[in-house]
Amino acid sequence: MAVPFCLVSPWRFVRSARLVHAFRIPALQLHTTGSAMGATVEDFNHAKAQLGTLKKDPGNEIKLKIYALFKQATQGPCNTPKPGMLDFVNKAKWDAWKSLGDVSQDEARQQYVDLISSLVAAEGPAKVAAEPAGSTAAAAFETLLVTTEDNITTIRLNRPQKKNAITIQMYNEIIKALELAGKDDSVITVLTGSGDFYSSGNDLNNFTKIPEGGIEQMAKDSGELLRGFVKAFIDFPKPLIAVINGPAVGVSVTLLGLFDVVYATEKATFHTPFSQLGQSPEGCSSYTFPKMMGVAKASEMLLFNKKLTATEACQRGLVTEVFPDSSFQTEVWTRLKAYAQLPRNSLALSKQLVRVVEKERLHAVNDQEVERLVERWLSDECMNAIMSFFQAKARL
Ligand code: COA
Repeated sequence: MAVPFCLVSPWRFVRSARLVHAFRIPALQLHTTGSAMGATVEDFNHAKAQLGTLKKDPGNEIKLKIYALFKQATQGPCNTPKPGMLDFVNKAKWDAWKSLGDVSQDEARQQYVDLISSLVAAEGPAKVAAEPAGSTAAAAFETLLVTTEDNITTIRLNRPQKKNAITIQMYNEIIKALELAGKDDSVITVLTGSGDFYSSGNDLNNFTKIPEGGIEQMAKDSGELLRGFVKAFIDFPKPLIAVINGPAVGVSVTLLGLFDVVYATEKATFHTPFSQLGQSPEGCSSYTFPKMMGVAKASEMLLFNKKLTATEACQRGLVTEVFPDSSFQTEVWTRLKAYAQLPRNSLALSKQLVRVVEKERLHAVNDQEVERLVERWLSDECMNAIMSFFQAKARL
């Protein structure tokens, strides 16, 4: 009998498989890429999140391998008593874990990451599993990984090779993902990044794709896109939490004033190099930053490009709390799971009460910022700065 496949948790599928009679567990023959570096805790957590997006049931044997590697990676070699003969499910799990012997936790973590990566790769580009039409996870996204688990919808920026730079497609997908998350059954929504960066901000290649209407048209279209993008954050109806897993640049920083809670790893930095790029602030930061940190400190960031450490950002009120990198993911997600058990309507209504007084003003600020940026994008200062970025790359 097949073990029901649970898209949510690597081990819950076995817990729910009461009717399973027997498993034949072959010696674990794992295909690994043998990465010399070894998987980090972040890679491991990312793999866990990816597991939830698999569309196809990988079969009992693979699921037991996933379970065993997860236990070995998180707890080390099997050290629990052998379940009784008739406790088929737990016996199968125990056998799988035991068969890993003395494989180290680091090695198990690497094998876990490799195994999930190979399953994801076998399914093609990141798209989420079939779920009821209209749900967040039912939508297909190419630049995001979107999952709903434990009452939390997580929107993960997923261009790690490009430091999660936000392309036009990604702007549109984030707007869509927020729209769906606002209506789905989740209690809270989280935005985070894949890989070592949270986001490097606007993808500067967006400026190189000139449409038929010329550069004026490009500036106008980009302005409308930005206006709708920021609006999706201003109007988001539920608690919105940023999990800042690494450096953040540009619009990924300026938007933070529109989040309800911002948790950051100590490795994160916060940089808004607008004047360096001949541009001006967006994401309502021209209003939210002076409000949260005072005009002088905000000007240091928004005018003079000061890059903040996570601790400085926390002192300035931009970040709620900073965590050691080694325990960041574990501590933050434990806390978020607890938050997500709180009553949904109470949380949403409380958030709306906190925000309602500011909403109209935020929309007005957004309009003004967009208007200024459309002008900036057409300026020589901006053009020259973008050209310099690409010329510097070409010289490398
Ligand atoms: N737009 C376009 N491409 C970007 C990008 C962005 N905002 N951020 C990173 N990338 C690309 C790089 O060009 C590089 O592409 P390549 O592999 O094809 O050469 C890749 O992502 C990796 O980035 P790299 O620069 O090699 O990594 P790094 O760790 O040395 O530096 C940054 C990371 C983010 C500091 C650097 O890429 C950068 O300054 N990017 C621009 C950030 C920016 O100005 N954003 C807009 C703010 S308004």
